[in-house]
Amino acid sequence: MITIAIANQKGGVGKTTLTRELSACCALRGYQVLVVDCDPQGNLTSSWVDADVYEATLSHVLIEPESPAGIKMEPLPLDDAIVESPVVGLDLVPADIRLARFEMQPDYLTHRLRNQLKDHGRAYDLVFVDCPPQLGKLLTAALYAADFVLVPCAADAMGLQGLSDLAYTIEQVRKNVNSDLQMLGAVINLYKPQRNLSAESRGAVEQAIELVGHVFDTNLHDYSKVAEAPSQKLPAVLYAKTHRAADQLWSLTDEVLDRLQMSRQKLSAVN
Ligand SMILES: Nc1ncnc2c1ncn2[C@@H]1O[C@H](COP(=O)(O)OP(=O)(O)O)[C@@H](O)[C@H]1O
Ligand SMILES: [Mg+2]
Repeated sequence: MITIAIANQKGGVGKTTLTRELSACCALRGYQVLVVDCDPQGNLTSSWVDADVYEATLSHVLIEPESPAGIKMEPLPLDDAIVESPVVGLDLVPADIRLARFEMQPDYLTHRLRNQLKDHGRAYDLVFVDCPPQLGKLLTAALYAADFVLVPCAADAMGLQGLSDLAYTIEQVRKNVNSDLQMLGAVINLYKPQRNLSAESRGAVEQAIELVGHVFDTNLHDYSKVAEAPSQKLPAVLYAKTHRAADQLWSLTDEVLDRLQMSRQKLSAVN
């Protein structure tokens, strides 16, 4: 099991989009994949499943329930919150706004996601964690649970704002709790080739390399098909199979699997 946190405290840079697309691509390549929605906004969850298909969410797994008698109660095991997604081989731990309470929980619960994944995640080859857009306890819990961090950035100077804060947070997690955490790289997203941003984008890439260490060769362009796909409860690679967006997402998947030193197609795959 390899766990990848998709993180950037800036909103709107493509964390949820890349979590959805990369996890779907890896499942379509034959891997067993689990996605953990670690954002109280639950955007990833609502792009896969309707709220009536699940009862337990990540907050039930990470937060101790309040009992009226004051008796300490254990949260649910991770297994109890796993549901199937519309993609074969891809499961999901949903989230909703109740997860926001995690920020007020005691520090020792920061370890719980890591421990639960260790205990219940063994059936999966890959776990992707969609991180919230803030530097808080949830992000720390996700980074503590992760082997790698992947950082989506928007392709402009604004898109890189705050990247140094994220790099600092990652460094702190590495120093204090998870010395094995590695940077997988940055993905330049929302690239607009029609606007003459090339100089700005190049500057952005150079800065990202300096802070993150590696930038993937594949940029993801700004394509309306990518934004439309979730309303059909599909990843763009299935919603717009023959579109240029799907080509870019597949080539990004190849790069990610190469960097993880995993085969581009799981050999035991039937499809
Ligand atoms: N490459 C892309 N092309 C078109 N729209 C995109 C692309 N990447 C993200 N979006 C859209 O931008 C918005 C923000 O993306 P999202 O993945 O939710 O960001 P984050 O999770 O970082 O807040 C969403 O509406 C999403 O559909
Ligand atoms: Mg998001």
